[in-house]
Amino acid sequence: MSRKVYFGTNLKMYKTIQETVDYLAGLQSLTGNIDRDEATIFAIPSFTALDRVKGLVDEERILLGAQNMHWEEKGQFTGEVSPLMLQEIGIEIIEIGHSERRHAMGENDFDENKKVLSALSHGFIALLCVGETLQQKEFGLCDEVLAMQLKTGLHHVHPADLNRVWIAYEPVWAIGDAGMPSSAAYADEKHSVIKSVLKELFFDEADKIPVLYGGSVNLNNCEGFAAMPNVDGLFVGRAAWEENNFNALIRKSLPCF
Ligand code: PGA
Repeated sequence: MSRKVYFGTNLKMYKTIQETVDYLAGLQSLTGNIDRDEATIFAIPSFTALDRVKGLVDEERILLGAQNMHWEEKGQFTGEVSPLMLQEIGIEIIEIGHSERRHAMGENDFDENKKVLSALSHGFIALLCVGETLQQKEFGLCDEVLAMQLKTGLHHVHPADLNRVWIAYEPVWAIGDAGMPSSAAYADEKHSVIKSVLKELFFDEADKIPVLYGGSVNLNNCEGFAAMPNVDGLFVGRAAWEENNFNALIRKSLPCF
């Protein structure tokens, strides 16, 4: 393994503050001897837990992110959380455009673009999630959908900010309880499509952008994804929400990259 790889989890709406504290304390200790020059580890808890866990987690060991963010600094946006509020906590990553935001909350690519630009201008890492639905896959539209999501979502991103852009490819049909795991070969092919769109947008600077795979990654299939040449990391849901499992998954996959 010669490149830096990424392991992250989005905790979705599952853990209370105390459960998040316990989980991250456990994960930090279990993964203590993993070389962070080799692997970046990150976790994305609920908003309510962020301030508390920021005081507990060492950012050299585990980066913290928010699951969403409004693009405006303040305003009449009831229920939203602003970049200034997240800066005040001191987290590092903003997850943007997870499939549940797009499909359950109605966000579109133009919203995601405003969030990406705002996240970058406020100094965060923007983790933009992309992926096709089953219907789009069946219609043979995956590559067009990915290109649209990337070209819109990353519109006007300045090349100087590309070291703070991460992409997660998460096919919607592969995510969650009803998800059908993708084959590693299919994921790799779509990662290569994503990388060619990024090249078209940013030329050689695109090499700075890691592309993580997510969607039903687990202890049985993680090595297969990790072995793929275009997969730079794993973004894990259910299989990461117990700290021993996530630690095991990281340790099993790391040598395969
Ligand atoms: P899953 O979730 O690993 O539970 O399928 C992935 C995700 O939504 O990021």
